[in-house]
Amino acid sequence: MKVAQHCSLLLFTNSLLLLIFSGLGVHSLSYDYSATTECIAEPHRAQYGGGIIVNPGFDDNIEGWRVFGKGTIDERISNEGNRFIVARNRTHPLDSFSQKVQLQKGMLYTFSGWFQVSEGSEIVLVIFKTSGSEVIRGGHVIAKHGCWSLLKGGIVANISSHAEILFESKNSKVEIWADSISLQLFSETQWRQHQDENIERVRKSKVRLQVTDINESALEGAKVFINQTKASFPFGCGINDHILTSKEYQKWFVSRFKYATFTNQMKWYYTEKERGVENYTIADAMLKFTKDNDISVRGHNILWDNPRQQPEWVKTLSPEELKEAAAKRVESVVSRYRGELIAWDVMNENLHFHFYEDKLGKNASEEYYAKAYHLDPNTTMFLNEFNTLEYSNDSHSSPQNYLKKLEQILSFPGTSGISAAIGLQGHFGPDPPNMPYIRSALELLSTAGVPIWLTEVSVSPHQNQAHYLELILREAYSHASVEGIILFSGPATAGFNETTLVDENFQNTDAGDVVDNLIRDWEILPPKAIADNTGFVEISLPHGDYDVTVTHPLTNSSKTLKLSVGKSFPQETIQVKFHT
Ligand SMILES: *[C@@H]1O[C@H](CO)[C@@H](O)[C@H](O)[C@H]1NC(C)=O
Ligand SMILES: *[C@@H]1O[C@H](CO)[C@@H](O)[C@H](O)[C@H]1NC(C)=O
Ligand SMILES: *[C@@H]1O[C@H](CO)[C@@H](O)[C@H](O)[C@H]1NC(C)=O
Ligand SMILES: *[C@@H]1O[C@H](CO)[C@@H](O)[C@H](O)[C@H]1NC(C)=O
Ligand SMILES: *[C@@H]1O[C@H](CO)[C@@H](O)[C@H](O)[C@H]1NC(C)=O
Ligand SMILES: *[C@@H]1O[C@H](CO)[C@@H](O)[C@H](O)[C@H]1NC(C)=O
Ligand SMILES: *[C@@H]1O[C@H](CO)[C@@H](O)[C@H](O)[C@H]1NC(C)=O
Ligand SMILES: *[C@@H]1O[C@H](CO)[C@@H](O)[C@H](O)[C@H]1NC(C)=O
Ligand SMILES: *[C@@H]1O[C@H](CO)[C@@H](O)[C@H](O)[C@H]1NC(C)=O
Ligand SMILES: *[C@@H]1O[C@H](CO)[C@@H](O)[C@H](O)[C@H]1NC(C)=O
Repeated sequence: MKVAQHCSLLLFTNSLLLLIFSGLGVHSLSYDYSATTECIAEPHRAQYGGGIIVNPGFDDNIEGWRVFGKGTIDERISNEGNRFIVARNRTHPLDSFSQKVQLQKGMLYTFSGWFQVSEGSEIVLVIFKTSGSEVIRGGHVIAKHGCWSLLKGGIVANISSHAEILFESKNSKVEIWADSISLQLFSETQWRQHQDENIERVRKSKVRLQVTDINESALEGAKVFINQTKASFPFGCGINDHILTSKEYQKWFVSRFKYATFTNQMKWYYTEKERGVENYTIADAMLKFTKDNDISVRGHNILWDNPRQQPEWVKTLSPEELKEAAAKRVESVVSRYRGELIAWDVMNENLHFHFYEDKLGKNASEEYYAKAYHLDPNTTMFLNEFNTLEYSNDSHSSPQNYLKKLEQILSFPGTSGISAAIGLQGHFGPDPPNMPYIRSALELLSTAGVPIWLTEVSVSPHQNQAHYLELILREAYSHASVEGIILFSGPATAGFNETTLVDENFQNTDAGDVVDNLIRDWEILPPKAIADNTGFVEISLPHGDYDVTVTHPLTNSSKTLKLSVGKSFPQETIQVKFHT
């Protein structure tokens, strides 16, 4: 280990974990946002001093660590004098070094560690093996030889149990090297506190007003009313064709959302059911509805790489025919809506599937990104995938593979200047969402420097559905690189049976309450403030446009000003002066 980061002191009392910080406030607990995909010569020091890991930096040889499976483990020292652990003579993917930890039910555990392999490059996973022999994957990294890569991830403990932390690499011929291993636990309350701190930092700015009268005397008790006219953060929801015929659905949607995605109505299988017979009636009508109501729309999707999600007639085309039909499709839909959408999902789910690659060659996706960009150069072109946040065990769409695909698209001839973005569907199951893993995945993806959107958020029906939905949405909102969230949910009457927000009578479900409360927190609060005895008012406002009305404490006369509050909102105090 090397290079000091901040350190924290841990005290255990009656198995209650207290965290105490020296002068740095709670911020010293804040998750390290300096995520890196770089492979570096010497690893950094263990995060959080290693947390609950014994001998995290191998300063005490390999004390606290034991062999898992077969093979040999020992300490090695680099030419620079850095000490680390090595698992060698492995014969099985799980043969590695391990340490036992005690997991507490309901706690969130963030894992980090630096890895290297003895040759080439291999995926290394961190595994939590509970006493019930359950094997939980906590994240992975592509470890290389010759430099150190950071693995970040974690788990949520849904039972109290002993667990063994160990490591997996499919290629048992390579040695696994590791250093600066850390496992830090957080309660859900602490986690929520981080989210709130990050939200304060990345989504809000402080607005300061000073209210005075004609003689520049402070007007104590002046009332300041704040009315948000437009929220900066795009928080939207999917819609389907029921919106064209249901007035209640329209009213419900329009009073909440300014962003939408059509769940199916722009898809190829929807607009060209029969070969050569295009029908955009529904999509056009939905787009008219959104325009009339000042709602921005993400285009979903141009093509879909899943073989099962093609129009029936497309499934049996020869490669030559497919090439022609797909070119026509792209041209048709992208030209039709050119300049009218805020985004396109270009080749949906091309990390899991490869229908077009199989038939047309390995650059098929890249070519369609270039083509769509050429047809509609001002619209952001997204990748759109599932399981990147939802499950740590799906390596197809792991953050690392996602970044690799994005890089292939960005470096492909014809995409130069493209405005590309990362789309994460976010269809969560009924298990507790792995918050530490979600955070590490977002951090890793943010290194690409392009916008990240959650594009189709849903949570399976479950007694904790609303709670999980809130955790996930707050996590995304608290991360600076996330620039928008779209739910795939809605009223029961429109068929949204997975994450239903309002029942048959348009009464909120618990999930509906979560969404409405977040809209209120992110877009509306706080509505009112009162000037102190120096005439001073300070309010933290979510980024957006506001009408601010100040009323004189004695005469009740009022002044209104328009404010546009963004990241670089001026720190200076705004003077509000009454001429009486
Ligand atoms: C490697 O492992 C095999 C099988 O467990 C064992 O027979 C052999 O002695 C080991 N070699 C070394 C160098 O440890
Ligand atoms: C804990 O989570 C795992 C994996 O998500 C799941 O398989 C298991 O059933 C859960 N156990 C309990 C007690 O909820
Ligand atoms: C402002 O000052 C002038 C001159 O001292 C005084 O006549 C007037 O009443 C003051 N106005 C207010 C609103 O205090
Ligand atoms: C807030 O602004 C909206 C939109 O401009 C307007 O319709 C509404 O009346 C305002 N409300 C208040 C309390 O000023
Ligand atoms: C196109 O679709 C609409 C809506 O489903 C339908 O009413 C219309 O008849 C279709 N047009 C043609 C030419 O098939
Ligand atoms: C793209 O945007 C730029 C700048 O706003 C504008 O000049 C240009 O005409 C737009 N191009 C298209 C094809 O809409
Ligand atoms: C990942 O885990 C989930 C739930 O724990 C399970 O349903 C799914 O089949 C797993 N996927 C893979 C690729 O192992
Ligand atoms: C795919 O694109 C790359 C450029 O990114 C090019 O070097 C390669 O030849 C292409 N392969 C095929 C099969 O077209
Ligand atoms: C929702 O509806 C679809 C289509 O009718 C069905 O396949 C699915 O099982 C339903 N899901 C739930 C949770 O009821
Ligand atoms: C100002 O408004 C308050 C509360 O509405 C009222 O009690 C008071 O009489 C008003 N003062 C003037 C000067 O109109």
